[in-house]
Amino acid sequence: MKIYRREISTEKLNSIINSVKKGKYQEIAKEKVKKEIVKQLRNNPALIDKIEKKKHFDELVKSVRRELYRGIGIFNKKANLKKHYSTQERDYDVYLSIFNITGFPKKIVDLGSGINPLSYDKLGCKPEYVAYEINEEYVKEINSFFKKEKIKGKATVKDILDIKRFPKADVYFMFKLLESVELVKSHKISEELVKKANCKWLIVSFATTTISGKEMNVPRRRWFELMLNRLQLEYQIINTNNEMFYVINK
Ligand SMILES: C[S@@+](CC[C@H](N)C(=O)[O-])C[C@H]1O[C@@H](n2cnc3c(N)ncnc32)[C@H](O)[C@@H]1O
Repeated sequence: MKIYRREISTEKLNSIINSVKKGKYQEIAKEKVKKEIVKQLRNNPALIDKIEKKKHFDELVKSVRRELYRGIGIFNKKANLKKHYSTQERDYDVYLSIFNITGFPKKIVDLGSGINPLSYDKLGCKPEYVAYEINEEYVKEINSFFKKEKIKGKATVKDILDIKRFPKADVYFMFKLLESVELVKSHKISEELVKKANCKWLIVSFATTTISGKEMNVPRRRWFELMLNRLQLEYQIINTNNEMFYVINK
């Protein structure tokens, strides 16, 4: 099966499904389990390259089970979407700390936005909001939210690696994105995206806990800091309990 530019074999997918479907999870339909696995791999495609490692395999199984447990019969589809782990866990006070440095933006571009734009009311200001995301379901949800809330904004289904020219904005968000677009062991794509972001302030975040909620041993991304130094970009770091943000002055 192809997930964006990566390939996961049917055997691997089946072995993840079988590991999830144990104990109280065995009654859940195979298709439902598969759908959740694919959804999580889409959210974090880089995991496909690491899935041979037991640690990552086990974490995925745990995270899929957690979502299935939450989802079964308790929440409708929409509520489930809002429970997307990445956005749900964000500490929204971080927006205030970010805009303290950058000033309130008039326009934001959010790359690989997930459903983060649904937290628009947490921004503390009312900028135009442009989101690019490869997942169609998220994009539909964001656009109907923008319409309903009369927000000046638009989400577009797009592989950000195919965007030739990025629109100009005061602030760009790349939240928990770089490690999902990177191909194995190369930081070339990240560097391209950092260079191409057409803005004065670029905010890049990384998770500091694993998908199963444990703290990472080495949360700081040295490779990223070295890259920023090499590109002579100044940055400040804001830490929250599960995510670190690089506020980069371009
Ligand atoms: C870990 S999630 C983070 C979502 C959101 N930025 C947040 O932090 O709340 C990564 C997101 O990037 C999206 N994504 C990954 N590769 C992408 C690509 N090449 N083009 C567009 N979106 C991509 C995924 O669909 C997913 O929604």
